[in-house]
Amino acid sequence: MAFPVVDAGYLKEIDKARRDLRALISARSCAPVMLRLAWHDAGTYDAKTKTGGPNGSIRTEEEYNHGSNNGLKKAIDFCEEVKSKHPKVTYADLYQLAGVVAVEVTGGPTIDFVPGRKDSRISPKEGRLPDAKKGASHLKDIFYRMGLSDKDIVALSGGHTLGRAHPERSGFDGPWTNEPLKFDNSYFAELLKGDSEWLLKLPTDKALLDDPKFRPFVELYAKDEDAFFRDYAESHKKLSELGFSTSSSSSKVNATDSIILAQSAVGVAVAAAVVVLSYFYEVHKRMK
Ligand code: HEM
Repeated sequence: MAFPVVDAGYLKEIDKARRDLRALISARSCAPVMLRLAWHDAGTYDAKTKTGGPNGSIRTEEEYNHGSNNGLKKAIDFCEEVKSKHPKVTYADLYQLAGVVAVEVTGGPTIDFVPGRKDSRISPKEGRLPDAKKGASHLKDIFYRMGLSDKDIVALSGGHTLGRAHPERSGFDGPWTNEPLKFDNSYFAELLKGDSEWLLKLPTDKALLDDPKFRPFVELYAKDEDAFFRDYAESHKKLSELGFSTSSSSSKVNATDSIILAQSAVGVAVAAAVVVLSYFYEVHKRMK
């Protein structure tokens, strides 16, 4: 499928879709599942083969039936309500916009959203998303494959500040925090407190405490919410743009190209002027 043309009309539709998503997410209290949808569409990216990623392919029956996507059909259907009103907006953009809005309406940081993703119906093979029963080296395998860093792993795991696990979907049960509809840094504070009777800690959550590269970020985010929000917004943007080069970056390339061209043109003009002036100087000398 082709890239959408990101013109003034498309940007207007994105703006309207954003408003509709805000209203829908607030009315249905579905921020957690919408954030999870955005993450699972994007999190299949493989930087080496440039396959998977935020391309809307999770809407295909094949992909939403992957075991790791249990429960996400509900979020796909919610998004369909917005898609039917704004058919120009690609699924790929819509799902990532839903993730950004989910964080925003629950009190999280503002995440820069750049539209223009193209849709695909090609689903990656099952098994690209992390397995919650595994440890730190598995998390690194999965996130490094996407081209993400240790800091990204810890910051993005903070997405578990929202929502809960459902036994019928994942086999796990319960929320990570006492206020699962509020985006804050309490996921990290709870993680450092250790096991709790009421709150969930997946093996992959606990792995953030054991690994020497991960733990300093957990400690930082638990005590400094601003640092968490800053890093989360940056990592979320990266996740939402895996394999996607924005038209703004291509226009930046054009701007750089024009500067180089302009500089070369000035160089040529100066050299020509020097040649002409030397010629007149020689002529003038001989005439004397
Ligand atoms: C680090 C590896 C990760 C693992 C192993 C993991 C695993 C899980 C599991 C098992 C659930 C429970 C699903 C259910 O039963 O409904 C879940 C829920 C959730 N995950 Fe993750 N996750 C990871 C990373 C992320 C990231 C990066 C984000 C977003 C930035 C995220 C956002 C969420 C949200 C919001 C929910 C709650 C969904 C709901 O309430 O319906 N997770 N995750």
